[in-house]
Amino acid sequence: MKALVLAGGAGTRLRPITYTSAKQLVPVANKPILFYGLEQIRDAGITDVGIIVGDTAPEIEAAIGDGSELGIDATYIPQDQPLGLAHAVLTAADFLGDDDFVMFLGDNLIEGGITDMVDSFQADRPAAQLLLKKVPDPERFGIATLRTDGSIERLVEKPSEPPSDLALVGVYLFTSAVLGAARRITPSWRGELEITDAIQRLIDDGAPVRASVLDGWWLDTGKKDELLDANRIVLGAVERRVEGDVDEDSNVVGDVVVEAGATLVRSTVRGPAVIGSDSHLEDVFVGPFTSIAAGCRLERCELEYSVVLDRCTIRDLPRLEGSLLGRDVTLTRTERRPAAHRFLLGDHSQVEIAEG
Ligand code: G1P
Repeated sequence: MKALVLAGGAGTRLRPITYTSAKQLVPVANKPILFYGLEQIRDAGITDVGIIVGDTAPEIEAAIGDGSELGIDATYIPQDQPLGLAHAVLTAADFLGDDDFVMFLGDNLIEGGITDMVDSFQADRPAAQLLLKKVPDPERFGIATLRTDGSIERLVEKPSEPPSDLALVGVYLFTSAVLGAARRITPSWRGELEITDAIQRLIDDGAPVRASVLDGWWLDTGKKDELLDANRIVLGAVERRVEGDVDEDSNVVGDVVVEAGATLVRSTVRGPAVIGSDSHLEDVFVGPFTSIAAGCRLERCELEYSVVLDRCTIRDLPRLEGSLLGRDVTLTRTERRPAAHRFLLGDHSQVEIAEG
């Protein structure tokens, strides 16, 4: 059995972060989203992993390399244009051959892994096995309707009038029959070859297509608030590990990871939180659900419920909350006159300034 991981796409909803970074590499609890999926694939016993890459291919390849550090054997498959999930499957036809495979969308995080799902698929080998989850906003997803016996009756992609609230989670198991089905569909209204349509084709052919409903959480990390929420949930499972230098005037409370090389001076970190290697915190308060990546420098500031990527500088700011900072961001206070806010912001940046 093989895996096909989708790591192309533009990530428009996470701009400006995704102008310079692939959306699948944005970290949650200081680990790229994509790595969680790859680890779950490996834990299910699958090591032969094809990775579909687009414009951000160099960055994805630099992060994963040959895959050996993650315990997988990675093969990169370029997709010229993001023309849909079924198009990605067809692009990978040579890699997939006649093998069964799991397709995993690289910006999805699911709780509990995929081992049980893979085991049950391998026992019966239906043409497709899908994972579903009830969602409050079904018009944003592929939606399934079930027959009374629990089998799938119909699939529809992003319906304006959703026939149910059961969304297709970004993990699919297939035999090679899906390749034939994908060859027989035409582009949707959004100009993509939809995997939803290919699976519907299998259903129309009378092929066995079944689904299970995911009990745990499913996080689609497409937007800032979703990413912060994913960070909150994943940090909830972090266990305390303090390897950096914490001086005697600092206080590390609860489940906090302080990586080796990080230094805390007169600072308090209240978990769950992670502080990356070589980050320096001086007279800082870090509140729960915060991830600070590597090489950051924070002085005289407070932050909580936030994600800060590598090499940021934050100085003399009373309180930051619900914030996502990209790499190499500098936030400082100034004594310069005239007293004013001064910004250099990339396209699609968002700033909220508190009164006072
Ligand atoms: C894709 C699928 C959709 C599925 C979703 C899960 O949507 O087309 O059926 O529910 O992934 O994340 P897209 O991310 O292309 O909008």
